[in-house]
Amino acid sequence: MLRKEQNDLLTQTGPGTPMGQMFRRHWLPALLAEELPENECPPVRIKLLSERLLAWRDTQGRYALTDEFCAHRGISLWFGRNEENGLRCPYHGWKYDHTGQCIDVPSEPADSSFCKKIKLKSYPLIERGGVLWTYMGPPELQPPPPEWEFAMVPADRRFTSKRLQECNWLQAMEGGIDSSHVSFLHGGELDRDPLFKGSRGNQYNLGDMKPVFEVVESVGGLYIGARRNAENGNYYWRVTQWVMPSFTMIPPRADHPVHGHFWIPIDDENCWAWSFDYKVTRPLTKEEVQAMRDGKGIHVKYMPGTFRPLANKDNDYMVDRAAQKAGKTYSGVEGIAMQDASLQESMGPIVDRSKENLVSTDNGIIMARHRLLRALKTMEKGETPPGVDISHQRVRSAAVVLPPDQPYKDAAKDALIVQPGKAHVSV
Ligand code: FES
Ligand SMILES: [Fe+2]
Repeated sequence: MLRKEQNDLLTQTGPGTPMGQMFRRHWLPALLAEELPENECPPVRIKLLSERLLAWRDTQGRYALTDEFCAHRGISLWFGRNEENGLRCPYHGWKYDHTGQCIDVPSEPADSSFCKKIKLKSYPLIERGGVLWTYMGPPELQPPPPEWEFAMVPADRRFTSKRLQECNWLQAMEGGIDSSHVSFLHGGELDRDPLFKGSRGNQYNLGDMKPVFEVVESVGGLYIGARRNAENGNYYWRVTQWVMPSFTMIPPRADHPVHGHFWIPIDDENCWAWSFDYKVTRPLTKEEVQAMRDGKGIHVKYMPGTFRPLANKDNDYMVDRAAQKAGKTYSGVEGIAMQDASLQESMGPIVDRSKENLVSTDNGIIMARHRLLRALKTMEKGETPPGVDISHQRVRSAAVVLPPDQPYKDAAKDALIVQPGKAHVSV
């Protein structure tokens, strides 16, 4: 459990908040590159860390992430005219370049230097791995671009999506490191979902509902090892990666693509659930990509024209009580992503963690909270938060069967870091 002050500290990410400052020290996924498909395309409104911003792409293809609102009288530049290397406000014609600098105030005399004094707030926006990343922190502390493995493999080996999740980022992220719910909530999907089925590990998952957790600190966050019984007294280990503040990587199953998430605050009551899938050693098959597009695995189907899931709280997530009764789904909600999201949203926008009753399978969550609180303290003293360093990003999740006397952090050491060209270690 967390006291109210601790809960506030970890869940609030607006400008000036300590947790907001931690997020602002990292490169964050902001948009899919396909949202800005061509030069001078329509701009996209995007809210991140409680700041309302506008993403756009100028005549030369330069990406811009600027304040959504015109510096003159505050109308939304989403209505702007994207023309000749700048975005022009449609109200009185003020024009801004991709750095947010005002470059034209047409109502002022031609020799006026007024516009030089006007600049919109602006953040860098770069493309890597099909994702547009931004850095919203102090310019002098900007780290090198991110090197998460999924973003570094060739385009035909990865698939990335994002969906709106209508709750605070932390309760969503905590679901990503909570390996014990899989045997219950997703039990029905393991043998059915095309992106999960057929793995030997599934049988261990379904055969042992009392996993033992062994959580070990890594340089960037935690290795969260969940141990279940396998044959002949051996253990089946699923090791989830968590890198601060909100990167999680799910352990693999057989030869399926490896999945993971980022949980990025939109504001304190909403977040983006970014979901990626990739393979290091081969392109994704047509069937895999189609399944991802169809909302299988950790992806979802959308309300047309939006990133809001089709099953959402306004339609009770299309819960199917008959399927729940028949044992087809555990909660009545279809699909792994919405099974998670529906329950996490049901906790309310920001769950009150002073009322929890935690058990030993919550150890990963307990340690992640402590690690975040500790990192906030060291940040106050001027230290760089974990996860910013590129070497902290070179991690992998793993699924392994080990003899009982071998600690996973030693026996599976190599499996937990990026091995260029080599496949993930999987069962
Ligand atoms: S409000 Fe934008 S130019 Fe006047
Ligand atoms: Fe889940």
